[in-house]
Amino acid sequence: MTARLVVLLSGRGTNFQALQQAIEAGTLKAGISAVVADRQAAGLGLAGEHGIDTVRVERTHHADRASFEASLTAAISGYGPDWIVLAGFMRVLSAGFVTRFLGRMINIHPSLLPKYRGLDTHARALAAGDSEHGASVHFVTPELDGGPVISQARLPVLSDDTPDILASRLLPLEHRLLTATMALMTTRPVELRHEQILLNNQPLAEPLLLGHDLDNDGTFGSQPRRNCSDQPR
Ligand code: GAR
Repeated sequence: MTARLVVLLSGRGTNFQALQQAIEAGTLKAGISAVVADRQAAGLGLAGEHGIDTVRVERTHHADRASFEASLTAAISGYGPDWIVLAGFMRVLSAGFVTRFLGRMINIHPSLLPKYRGLDTHARALAAGDSEHGASVHFVTPELDGGPVISQARLPVLSDDTPDILASRLLPLEHRLLTATMALMTTRPVELRHEQILLNNQPLAEPLLLGHDLDNDGTFGSQPRRNCSDQPR
């Protein structure tokens, strides 16, 4: 069965586009049923160009967060997705909403979680003098950016990095990380059980590392684990 995805976003939509390109290339056996945004977002236009349903659910059109999230829930549930992918969705979601989709909702975040939850991750990594930075894909739980991490991509910080340069160097790795992780999750049993990730029914001790544990096509376990300064292939 082909997995059905619903993607939530708030902005450009390059991570959505990477998923869609992987689907069109046949490396990700899934279909994106809809792209849902909480505002006017460039990503909605991209989705439309691919003939994908788009839905806008705006907070400002709702009296309160509860009614906004009720509309969001209805928009998502109407598509019966196997997975809900937050790809640059910038709104904090309530515990009730998250619990409704627990175990089926993942998020890509631009840091090596548990470092730098929230915003301005690139600037914070630079300010801390970190030698490496990266991105994480994690299950969404009520704790903001705090759910169990499935996979990560790492890259070395360079002496002339600024927050913008670092973000732009990281972005292509995010695209590979998200597509590879979704390829894994649509071909292998990956479950969230009691705050623990089970992969092939075995507890996942640490996040899968792109280019080492996890490859572009979603296969894993092929390369020995190395550290930061090795760029993922
Ligand atoms: C990505 O860098 C993603 O990691 C980040 O937003 C960007 C979306 O880019 N997400 C977060 O910061 C969530 N906390 P895109 O719209 O081009 O995919």
